[in-house]
Amino acid sequence: MSKTRGKAIECKAAVCWEPRQPLSIETVKVEPPRGGEVRVRIAFTGICHSDAHILNGCIEAKLPVILGHEASGVVESVGEGVTNFEEGDHVITMFLPECNQCRCCTSGKTGTCEVFMDKNYANGLLMDGTSRFSIRGETVYHFFDTSTFSQYTVLPAISLVKVNPVAPLEKICLLSCGIPTGYGTAVNTAPVKQGSVCAVWGLGCIGLAAVMGCKAAGAARVIGIDINADKFELSKKFGVTESLNPLDYDIPINEVLKEKTNGGLDFAFECVGTTKTMEQAFMSLHKGWGKLLVVGLAPDGDTIKVPPFELLYGKTITGALYGDHRRAKQVPELVNKYMRGEILIDEFITHTMPLDRINEAFDLQRDGKSYGKIYSRFPRDPAVKGHFYKLQRLYTKARKHKYREYKQSLLKQIETLHEENPKQYWQLIDELQGKEKDDKSALVAPFDWLNHFKNLTEPKDEFKERLQFLEEKLNILEKRKCFNELDSRISETEISTALSSLKINKAAG
Ligand SMILES: NC(=O)c1ccc[n+]([C@@H]2O[C@H](COP(=O)([O-])OP(=O)(O)OC[C@H]3O[C@@H](n4cnc5c(N)ncnc54)[C@H](O)[C@@H]3O)[C@@H](O)[C@H]2O)c1
Ligand SMILES: [Zn+2]
Ligand SMILES: [Zn+2]
Repeated sequence: MSKTRGKAIECKAAVCWEPRQPLSIETVKVEPPRGGEVRVRIAFTGICHSDAHILNGCIEAKLPVILGHEASGVVESVGEGVTNFEEGDHVITMFLPECNQCRCCTSGKTGTCEVFMDKNYANGLLMDGTSRFSIRGETVYHFFDTSTFSQYTVLPAISLVKVNPVAPLEKICLLSCGIPTGYGTAVNTAPVKQGSVCAVWGLGCIGLAAVMGCKAAGAARVIGIDINADKFELSKKFGVTESLNPLDYDIPINEVLKEKTNGGLDFAFECVGTTKTMEQAFMSLHKGWGKLLVVGLAPDGDTIKVPPFELLYGKTITGALYGDHRRAKQVPELVNKYMRGEILIDEFITHTMPLDRINEAFDLQRDGKSYGKIYSRFPRDPAVKGHFYKLQRLYTKARKHKYREYKQSLLKQIETLHEENPKQYWQLIDELQGKEKDDKSALVAPFDWLNHFKNLTEPKDEFKERLQFLEEKLNILEKRKCFNELDSRISETEISTALSSLKINKAAG
């Protein structure tokens, strides 16, 4: 049983005190879960434009609030009456709950849930009308019942999905919103048919995932539309066959599209969130059957205008939340699809950064520097993290200089850790899997560690599966030639001094 069960936890969170101001990293108190709730240690969170809508002041929220809705984590404890989750389960958070009892959930016709439609999310409170967060006694509010920009959060059990524990948490956090939203709108809601002509407005994470869905469904053409031309080159790997920048034309984009597609689109996906692009997309549809899928979130109170006669021609407008996915059933399937290489996730990640740099992540999104997703890593325990990086840095340096004895000594320490403190050992492995992609030193170390791990005896199958996954990942990285150029300026004395100061903190586990 976790040591924190039933007690309040103090941890770090990024708090929004007012719109258009940077988030502030604060120590927050997180109460234990009440009936029907679960407390989760967040491992990784993505940032989504829906969080940015609150930050920009386009959508109102009760303040101060902890934003974030796209995350993976591990169950810390469960509240009364929760039977489908237990401590240690790997989970991803769902902004769209699934109660499995309402008319929508039981209809088999939609992925929407009446709990979501009926609940007043603007009040920032959980189902029982209270909050689990506070700072120095002041209430801090929830966002979409998820609030993932915190090391610990409390959510209703119906807002969580349990997933394969072997799946890497730093990747599957993106199955919590962006990827399934775009992908599902194409494959579930539309659904796109073989040979269709599609266009996607907005090549952010949602739009790129919609492109991936169109491609998976067999679309003949997928036209990517964005006002930021930097997005075009990268969008090709998701399935964009041609791209269009509306700013390059003096005539409305719908006229350009009608000409290019011999009468209009079969399916148009609006993944920006403005009424203007929704109207443009509608006007680009083929008469008789064209369908507009609204995915973007427009500001509160906005309405779209379309000529009603166009509807008489047989065009339709619809939309979906979370790509109409049935959460408990389809999300674990998506995780397995990723593990089998059938859907992309890694390619959506442009940056990873620790929680305390979350404002930079929003700047990157706003400036269009991230074509896909940015997420924040949540160090579990600063002691473990610090130790890990030290070990890793030293090992990399030792490797470069072929200092066999240093290397042996480091490996010995890892081995000791494995034997004496398996829990801390696994924390290191998790950290290892979550390291930044472009940090070459982080990529080198695991490669040799891997060979070492193979010689360790480990009875659990889980270990083997994790190892296999890590190995596949490293093979890909090796192919991409990430293992070159290491820092060679480090001196021998520096290594030995650092080494002697390096002691595994056995108490930290
Ligand atoms: N339906 C759902 O369940 C759901 C879930 C999550 C997010 N969303 C919404 O989806 C939208 C997209 O989210 P994201 O995270 O991908 O955002 P993002 O900011 O990463 O991407 C938006 C893209 O749209 C482009 N763009 C802006 N104005 C444009 C215009 N006039 N024409 C063409 N392109 C334009 C931007 O350059 C950018 O590439 C947001 O409105 C978000 O709130 C909906
Ligand atoms: Zn989102
Ligand atoms: Zn429901």
